[in-house]
Amino acid sequence: MKKGLLAGTFDPPTWGHIEIIRRGANLVDELVVGIGKHASKNSPLYTFEEKKEGLLEELNQSSSIAIHQISGLLIDFARQNGIDVLIRGLRSHKDLEYEMQMARANFMLGGIETIFLPAGEKTALISSSLIRELASHDAPLSDFIPPYFSKTIHQKISER
Ligand code: COA
Repeated sequence: MKKGLLAGTFDPPTWGHIEIIRRGANLVDELVVGIGKHASKNSPLYTFEEKKEGLLEELNQSSSIAIHQISGLLIDFARQNGIDVLIRGLRSHKDLEYEMQMARANFMLGGIETIFLPAGEKTALISSSLIRELASHDAPLSDFIPPYFSKTIHQKISER
């Protein structure tokens, strides 16, 4: 049984993430969505529980997708959870250098391969920080993020 890990900060998850999760899940028997924290990113807008609830709502509780919190090194989580392969989305060539660095580091540290999936055309130019920026200007966001998040993000931003 092949187990994949798609890790990210997902703050908030976008339609682009949902697409990569669905396509990634088709490549393995079980896909773990690992919600972690990037060392240099500010405190997140959404808690792990909220991200999990919003993602599960969109993914229809699919039995081949599990959602876990990640703390510490990605490669340690991967080892402890029997992960065979890492999956990452690539939006454009701009992601490449950073993604190659992470993929190489994870291979050197744990001998684990990374599979890159090209992001869909419509979502290739968005990011979670762009969404947070748009939300702070009250822009409508349902074209970018799932309903759980588009209904709550303006309130979340105003509470900051
Ligand atoms: N659609 C929309 N946005 C996308 C996307 C897509 N298809 N693919 C990537 N992105 C965006 C994300 O929204 C995010 O945007 P942001 O920077 O504005 O938040 C950005 O691309 C990349 O972030 P993400 O995919 O969430 O990864 P990350 O770079 O924040 O890394 C971890 C998060 C948890 C994977 C990483 O920090 C990690 O592995 N941490 C554990 C510690 C560790 O082992 N570090 C060493 C790793 S070698």
